Amino acid sequence: MSATVAMMPSEGQARRGPDVIHAAAIAHRYEGPAGWINSLQGFDLRISRGEFLCILGPSGCGKSTFLKIVAGLAQPTSGQVLLNGSPIKGPGVDRGIVFQEHALFAWLTVIKNVEFGLKMSGWSKASARERAMHVLDIVGLAQQAHLYPYQLSGGMKHRVAVARAWALTDAALLLMDEPFSAIDAINRMSLQDHLIKTWLIEPRTVLYVTHDIDEAVYLADRVAILKSSPGRVAKEITIPISRPRDRNAPEFARERARITEEMFRLSAL
Ligand SMILES: Nc1ncnc2c1ncn2[C@@H]1O[C@H](COP(=O)(O)OP(=O)(O)OP(=O)(O)O)[C@@H](O)[C@H]1O
Ligand SMILES: [Mg+2]
Repeated sequence: MSATVAMMPSEGQARRGPDVIHAAAIAHRYEGPAGWINSLQGFDLRISRGEFLCILGPSGCGKSTFLKIVAGLAQPTSGQVLLNGSPIKGPGVDRGIVFQEHALFAWLTVIKNVEFGLKMSGWSKASARERAMHVLDIVGLAQQAHLYPYQLSGGMKHRVAVARAWALTDAALLLMDEPFSAIDAINRMSLQDHLIKTWLIEPRTVLYVTHDIDEAVYLADRVAILKSSPGRVAKEITIPISRPRDRNAPEFARERARITEEMFRLSAL
């Protein structure tokens, strides 16, 4: 272990609260034309309250499968995931989800898209409107509140999708599956800035899936690196850089190098 790595805080120090997610010995498999595919096996992970956790791994290692299990859209074949201490039984408004495709309702205005989940959770019309406007203001879209999705740029649509998830104050957890991966590099950085600004203003527990090392270093408190075939957490790395982070700072380069080295090491095993 290098001197730099030895000085990093332990994983425990980065934790800020009780577990929101506790995944223990998860296994999952899909049935394919050539038989069963073990997508996850021996998958263990804890996410604590207020933590921004990135799951990082190569394509096909099971990132989305784990996210779907936490969302309640898929069931593990063995093991269990606890959400605030209770087994996940199915989908619920206690989890906000942002997928790679922003999936906005085309027939609703921006503000109505953001209000939708709030109204489903029983918020009154007036309080849902106030909350939606507040979150749109944070993501810099207050002026666009009454436009329809087709009138927005791609990046704006993704910001609406983030605002829609963030608006759910009752959600214990926000799940994001590569929400910005289809966006060009400059806009992606701007969306990451908006996301972190939102998280700093209104801290939430976030499980964020990515295959982009820079994105993980920029966003995460902690990075869980997955290994494939079958997918499991092979290494957890705390990012000990205060926010907002400078992508050009030496400590950013050091963390990028540390994770890159770890991913090469794991892929060679
Ligand atoms: N519906 C499905 N039926 C059969 N196999 C599937 C299905 N969905 C995923 N798989 C397989 O399960 C494994 C894990 O897939 P998953 O989508 O979780 O990976 P991922 O890490 O999210 O990949 P990516 O970075 O490309 O999104 C892969 O081998 C994939 O081919
Ligand atoms: Mg995926």
